[in-house]
Amino acid sequence: LQGLKTKVLGQKVHVYGEVDSTQTIAHALVASGASEGTLVLAEAQTAGRGRMGRAWHSPAGKGIWMSLVLTPKVPVYFMPQLTLLSAVALCRAIQKVCRVDIGIKWPNDLLIKGKKVSGILLESSGEDERLKYVIAGIGISVNLKVEDYPEELRSVATSLAIESGTDIKRETLVQAFLLEFEELYALYLQEGFSPIRLLWEALSVTLKRPIRTHTPMGVIEGIADSLDDTGALTVIKGDGERIKVYSGDIELR
Ligand code: BTN
Repeated sequence: LQGLKTKVLGQKVHVYGEVDSTQTIAHALVASGASEGTLVLAEAQTAGRGRMGRAWHSPAGKGIWMSLVLTPKVPVYFMPQLTLLSAVALCRAIQKVCRVDIGIKWPNDLLIKGKKVSGILLESSGEDERLKYVIAGIGISVNLKVEDYPEELRSVATSLAIESGTDIKRETLVQAFLLEFEELYALYLQEGFSPIRLLWEALSVTLKRPIRTHTPMGVIEGIADSLDDTGALTVIKGDGERIKVYSGDIELR
């Protein structure tokens, strides 16, 4: 990554052709001593992983499929905050590099005109309430064309090239992301979640909108109201009851 302006993130990069998942590679690299900031990039993934056991479509050469090793000295229950921080960093990087109207759907999907363009998957390993390490997996559909998507994804997924009308240099976007992430991460470790929360709220396409979410207690419908200081989403139901959503997915209604 020529000209990268970060101090730590992405200073060590492992680039692969085809892999099963960059997440798997990053976990293995940590086991053999990889340090914070190590980045794994692949041209294609044959078994890209999404959140909640879903698959992630990762065709060759068209996207950014990457995993970043982090070792924040914070308790395990801060993970949701890191998830939201990752989404803010990625959203800001995309705004800087391309002309698209992009926003965040809670917790960390990036949407353009309601369609998903990028997803983030954080996997961690912890011990005694402390995080040992986090692998931030980031998938960005950069230069995919409509025909690169299987039929069933076309109504829900899009790419930066489709939406901006021009191909984007992947390296530029990776560098922009690493720089945004490094700055926000330093701010977070110094000042805590409050500044990140404000940035997330400003980029959200979720807040004040009617949403639906499936929880172990059943389906909840209401208006997404705000983030709390753990990163949970507060939803106000029709009867005025306030419910917190800690994990899972929401649908915009
Ligand atoms: C989601 O929205 O469900 C998260 C998708 C995360 C995909 C990325 S691509 C790079 C990294 N390797 C994986 O196997 N998954 C993540």
